[in-house]
Amino acid sequence: RERHLTGITTTGSPHLGNYVGAIRPAIAASQRADVESFYFLADFHALVKCQEPERIQRSTLEIAATWLALGLDHEQVFFYRQSDIPEIPQLTWYLSCVAGKGLLNRAHAYKASVDANLAQSLDEDAGISMGLFNYPVLMAADILIFNAHQVPVGRDQIQHIEIARDLAARFNHVYGDAFFTLPSAAVDEQTAILPGLDGRKMSKSYDNTIPLWLPEPELRKAILGIVTNSLAPGEPKNPDDSHIFTIYQAFASAEETATMRQAFLDGIAWGEAKQKLFERINQDLAPARERYRQLTETAQGRDELEAILQAGGQRARARATPFLARLNQAVGLRSVA
Ligand code: TYM
Repeated sequence: RERHLTGITTTGSPHLGNYVGAIRPAIAASQRADVESFYFLADFHALVKCQEPERIQRSTLEIAATWLALGLDHEQVFFYRQSDIPEIPQLTWYLSCVAGKGLLNRAHAYKASVDANLAQSLDEDAGISMGLFNYPVLMAADILIFNAHQVPVGRDQIQHIEIARDLAARFNHVYGDAFFTLPSAAVDEQTAILPGLDGRKMSKSYDNTIPLWLPEPELRKAILGIVTNSLAPGEPKNPDDSHIFTIYQAFASAEETATMRQAFLDGIAWGEAKQKLFERINQDLAPARERYRQLTETAQGRDELEAILQAGGQRARARATPFLARLNQAVGLRSVA
């Protein structure tokens, strides 16, 4: 079976971008009989960006509850916390030892931090941790420990998957066998980048996100706050130049999208377009809200969730342990697998 794997970093609350870029396509794939799915909470990655323990804990709870509330069948997939799989940091080390430093110098997130430092005339590595530098290697280990074929992600993660492919090929070459499958990014082109409130990519780092689980009135308010140009009601609007339309399209069927496209050309008022967008998003999320609340806000729900994560971690480890034993032998640390 084809293996799909994806993770979400546990900093902050899950937002609409995570939903359309990762969670929704992953849940859809997990229902296919020919796919084996690995979905996890990237809590080791969270430490790179966040050193507030309570925030990481809260975010882990919220993201785990989101997957379950939206209908992930945790018994049909591998659903786990990264930190419950110690083979991942172990593999990270083996991969670090075959990773060219130059390759990692070119990683976007690291380069962006260096450029920002240089722009302020600071030392190029000022404030940059080894965690940030090594982030793509840890991510490669997430993917390679389970030999995933496909990694469903938003476009911002493509370079990381390419680095994982590079490291897999390099390790296979150095140790002379096809230990690792070369993974591919699976990007849904239609929704590859969901814009946020200000029109830039919706991202925790830009502080422009719309959290998934806002109560209805606040969700409406947030959507009314998405930037638009100043065209008046009745003036034709270009759907292809509108964040409202882009976001609508990420949620609606082809037929609904065609109707909205026509409404734009007919000069729909921004207020009305936003109201329709709110209704469309809310229609997807409303059925799951109560389950989300129960999982995050009641002791019983939180216990249930913890039990699910622990069971998922054990099942995933049962895959990782024998594979890592084989790698230990391959690199010469053990004589038998
Ligand atoms: P993270 O936590 O930033 O985002 C999780 C997923 O959501 C997608 N995404 C978006 N998609 C569309 N539009 C947006 N505005 C948007 N914002 C976020 C991201 O592309 C991602 O798919 N490094 C990863 C987590 C990770 C991972 C992995 C992913 C760690 N190990 C292994 C895949 C495989 C990250 O920080 O994603």
